[in-house]
Amino acid sequence: MGHFDGKVAIVTGAGRGIGRAEALLLASEGAAVVVNDLGGETTGEGADSRPAQQVVDEISAAGGRAAASYDDISSWDGGQALIAQAVDTFGGLDVLVNNAGILRDKMSFNMDEAEWDAVINVHLKGHFVTSRFAASYWRQRSKEAGAPVGATIVNTSSESGLYGNAGQVNYAAAKAGIASMTIVMARELERIGVRVNAIAPVARTRLTEGLAGDLMAPKEGDFDRFAPENPAAMAIWLASPLSDGITGQVFKVGGGQAQLLRGWRPVTEATASDVWTLASVGAARGALVDGHDVGVPPFMPPVEG
Ligand SMILES: NC(=O)c1ccc[n+]([C@@H]2O[C@H](COP(=O)([O-])OP(=O)(O)OC[C@H]3O[C@@H](n4cnc5c(N)ncnc54)[C@H](O)[C@@H]3O)[C@@H](O)[C@H]2O)c1
Repeated sequence: MGHFDGKVAIVTGAGRGIGRAEALLLASEGAAVVVNDLGGETTGEGADSRPAQQVVDEISAAGGRAAASYDDISSWDGGQALIAQAVDTFGGLDVLVNNAGILRDKMSFNMDEAEWDAVINVHLKGHFVTSRFAASYWRQRSKEAGAPVGATIVNTSSESGLYGNAGQVNYAAAKAGIASMTIVMARELERIGVRVNAIAPVARTRLTEGLAGDLMAPKEGDFDRFAPENPAAMAIWLASPLSDGITGQVFKVGGGQAQLLRGWRPVTEATASDVWTLASVGAARGALVDGHDVGVPPFMPPVEG
């Protein structure tokens, strides 16, 4: 018995890295999987059908069910076609894992329009379009059945976005947007029985090997802390009924560590007795920031007690 017997799943960007590990785990737990991957370079340029097809072949060889999709999830039509393919091929959709991603790192003052647009499109729009069409499919199914659908979305954010990594303004803005989208869609879809969560993974893939190759290499005598199977396990746990009751949350996982991450929240407060002015804002400064470090925040804040 698998945790996804009889279920249908989509994983975007599943031809390589973390998405591949997610697709293999879903299939080994009984899901029929649509393996989506455009097959381009790390920058998003080019296309190749082999990465998606190879993962489909691996799943089939192990006795599972899978179909390849080469749709570009950064396009409205591509995202819509992907959801339709799952429904047409396997008769429905229960799990959507949004994972596809690219990088075009630059400091803000050197970034050009194409670098900004490509990264925002693949990550932010690429998460939204698939989620939007999956959500409308589930809403219809829920209406027809007069009952919640019991489906899940797992998004892929990043510590780079949540803590604001210098040199990645396009990527960080998209990944922070994905964390917000996770909360919004969790609220919107709760009524129809759809849970929406996100992971912030850390893993050894082609995206990170140039940056942290040695740091993430497997160490003798230890388990493989940076294998993509680590974040994949968290993502697929969030996709499964094993995580019932959890929605609108972001979990970091990688390097042998898992954390629940929480974002913007009020820290201090000052109140006005009249329209705010420069003088009254200035007078509130003490109440707002005294005792708080208000320089550039640290990249990774300590775990709260
Ligand atoms: N590896 C890490 O440490 C790390 C850290 C934080 C976040 N992430 C995120 O995890 C996700 C997976 O990254 P990875 O490290 O496995 O990288 P990867 O390059 O190994 O895999 C990403 C896959 O997405 C596919 N893809 C890119 N654009 C696409 C598009 N428009 N349509 C369909 N497929 C597309 C690529 O072809 C590739 O196979 C990304 O969203 C990435 O930003 C990774």
